[in-house]
Amino acid sequence: MDQSTSAFAPSRAVGRISSSAIRELLALVDRPGVISLAGGLPSARHFPVSETRRAVDDLVRRDPGVLQYSSTEGIPALREWIATRHQVRPEQVIVTHGSQQALDLVARVTLDEGDPVALADPGYIGAIQAFRLAGGSLVALPTDDDGLRIEALEERLHAGLRPRLVYVVLNFHNPTGATLSASRARHLAQLADRFGFLIVEDDPYAEIRFSGNPSPSLASLSDRVVSVRTISKVLFPGLRLGWMVVPDSMFRSVALVKQAVDLHTATLAQGVALHLLTRPGFMSDHVRVLQGYYGDQARVLCSALATEFGDQLEFALPDGGMFVWARVRRPGVDTEALLPRAIDGGVAFVPGSAFTVTEPHRAYLRLSFAAAPPEDLAEGARRLARTVLDGHRGGRRHPGCRAAPPPVDRYN
Ligand SMILES: Cc1ncc(COP(=O)(O)O)c(C=O)c1O
Repeated sequence: MDQSTSAFAPSRAVGRISSSAIRELLALVDRPGVISLAGGLPSARHFPVSETRRAVDDLVRRDPGVLQYSSTEGIPALREWIATRHQVRPEQVIVTHGSQQALDLVARVTLDEGDPVALADPGYIGAIQAFRLAGGSLVALPTDDDGLRIEALEERLHAGLRPRLVYVVLNFHNPTGATLSASRARHLAQLADRFGFLIVEDDPYAEIRFSGNPSPSLASLSDRVVSVRTISKVLFPGLRLGWMVVPDSMFRSVALVKQAVDLHTATLAQGVALHLLTRPGFMSDHVRVLQGYYGDQARVLCSALATEFGDQLEFALPDGGMFVWARVRRPGVDTEALLPRAIDGGVAFVPGSAFTVTEPHRAYLRLSFAAAPPEDLAEGARRLARTVLDGHRGGRRHPGCRAAPPPVDRYN
């Protein structure tokens, strides 16, 4: 339809984050017989259903205030709990609707159109979207097994780059699975102090560590840090509960913008989160179970991939998180082009190109071990190898997989 007669013309901001063909294709995998290794959804079998029911019941009976409007920054008791955990003052804490909203808020309050934001390429899709929506101009940085290559950032800084923000995922980057090493974390903090940029430290997978050592929080190394956190991966994402810890100088701007955007984070969700987070012994037991589960799942998928692909697929057994980032060792391979054939062959993954900042990552794919039952992980690896290695043309259905896959209209 002609723009002049159309009722709606999207803004320039919307144009910067338009939907991708891959996202639309992956919406198709929610059909019987397709094993999805695509979605970034946590294991629903581990959601604390009865504790949540109890929490809602208790809260509504004891404190009808949880059904009321509340303050923009978050309910005081939850802010205090968060402040204690981060060893900061409650006045630095803002409770958000998931860490995605924290990323959006930090982008809105710091970026003007065209301002540079440096981040790893491949990058976390939600952060790419938030920074682009706010008008940020993305600067791609290389990454390896120790996370973002800070010496490459330093070179760019010496060459004149002046980013407003540098975005890092501390533990188990999505999609690469890499953890920023302690020495790189220190180096990054020094550069922030020297060149005056703000670090956005996102760390949703820290608790889902089944081996190795965590990276030190950047906030312990520099004052120029916004820490972004979520309970989506350890409790459940439907609560949409996250938070940010911000430098004092930023606090008022963030609170003002949040008020304009949604008044405050859902009071009931904050009450439920606080109830679960502070129930004696609950979180430590729950997290221990999750670590055992995700560790087992990672090992099942990786050993099936090794069996099915031999040396044709390069990947590392992750120390935590939910993903395996793998490179197909075949000249000219294009995992995005392989995806429709894989879906026809009964398995879905996210091709590397979905995480593009500037590089296409055509030889790469991201496989999630979070939600599929172990036998589906093994069968998924078999189907994947058939598609990738044998040029399997598909068309055949695989009704053998046990559970219907989770919906993957979102594959963050
Ligand atoms: C690196 C990273 N950051 C942030 C998020 C967003 O999480 P939420 O908005 O549910 O807190 C995700 C979710 O997949 C993620 O992988």
